[in-house]
Amino acid sequence: AGKRTFTMIKPDAVENGHIGAILEKITASGFNIVALKLTQLSKRDAEEFYAVHNERPFFGELVEFMTRGPIVAAILEKENAVSDFRTLIGATNPSEAAEGTIRNLYATSIGENAVHGSDSDENAAIEGAFHFSGREIF
Ligand code: CMP
Repeated sequence: AGKRTFTMIKPDAVENGHIGAILEKITASGFNIVALKLTQLSKRDAEEFYAVHNERPFFGELVEFMTRGPIVAAILEKENAVSDFRTLIGATNPSEAAEGTIRNLYATSIGENAVHGSDSDENAAIEGAFHFSGREIF
């Protein structure tokens, strides 16, 4: 199992003042933060990052949402990082997210769902490299 995953705290959670609470939950759950920044995606960035979804009916909405304000991007380290982090964030749809998960606590809707978590070790590496240069990863 891989040791790293990539996450974003999405614009809704940043707007709602949840950066601190979410980072606290992440570190309290045993993840080490090895890269971290407040940044904003351009339309081009978001279209590239979410290219796998570009045929979906919600693609335009997703790009609009992800670019509307700053996000927090981070690389997290832990044994079984990808799978353990997806458990910590809960289901994509917050109404289906387990009690106490980050989406259960902080997400608004299936689109505005507070956090991203990579779905595989391969994508974690690709997504981390999309946001961070080598000298920003510790
Ligand atoms: P995430 O899994 O991080 O990456 C893909 C995103 O697409 C997902 O989070 C949601 O924010 C968004 N998404 C998935 N399904 C829908 C939907 N039915 N309507 C709007 N957005 C969606």
